[in-house]
Amino acid sequence: MVALHVTDLSKRYRRDAEAFTALDKVSFSIQPGELVALTGPSGSGKSTLLNIIAGYDQADGGSVVVNGFDVTRAKPAEMDALRTRTVGFIFQQFHLVPGLNALENVELALLNTGLSKAERRARATESLRRVGLAEHSARRPALLSGGQQQRVAVARALAAKPSVVLADEPTAALDRANAESLMDQLAALARESGMAALVSTHDQRCLDRVDRVIRLENGALS
Ligand SMILES: Nc1ncnc2c1ncn2[C@@H]1O[C@H](COP(=O)(O)OP(=O)(O)OP(=O)(O)O)[C@@H](O)[C@H]1O
Ligand SMILES: [Mg+2]
Repeated sequence: MVALHVTDLSKRYRRDAEAFTALDKVSFSIQPGELVALTGPSGSGKSTLLNIIAGYDQADGGSVVVNGFDVTRAKPAEMDALRTRTVGFIFQQFHLVPGLNALENVELALLNTGLSKAERRARATESLRRVGLAEHSARRPALLSGGQQQRVAVARALAAKPSVVLADEPTAALDRANAESLMDQLAALARESGMAALVSTHDQRCLDRVDRVIRLENGALS
């Protein structure tokens, strides 16, 4: 089965009196195990596209099918379940909860998965270990470097073992070594677990490490 299938996806925003087309009939597919970069100039629609795929925003036309499930026609409760178990999202600014330590931040993402508390702890611990942060699991975000915080965010996105991971400029706040290591981790996960990944980026270090690049210009694939 195709991991992610996007067909004729359109999004218009109202700007003053005019309608502005942010996405113009965008269509593409990603196979399980593929690591794909989404690139294009600022304002070309990358974040809009990722947010619609994750169900954070709604399309005006077209469809998004994740693992055979039509996101564009999902009810809010179904969308929550999909976000928890099927789609992982990595944000540019990490979005960690400041009052929780690294382990608790990752566990939080597993709350609605039906896993027991012990299973959630085990999963979160394993996910932090994978990104090389096992020894920092009791630290709060403020006591971690930017690269370490982003790794916690990656562990959180991957803890539920999603079939698709979306990342919006995940390396923008990272130095070279951390950016390369993040992309290498995503590539390894895609290879080993069959996870599909779509990563928006302007960053050549990322583009060098992916299987395929898709490019948006003015809301359309170019
Ligand atoms: N809520 C909104 N209301 C109106 N216009 C919006 C809204 N969100 C985004 N846009 C517009 O849609 C276009 C696409 O924005 P988007 O954030 O998807 O671009 P992007 O490719 O992610 O850019 P960047 O590389 O700067 O992050 C932009 O012209 C933006 O101004
Ligand atoms: Mg963006």
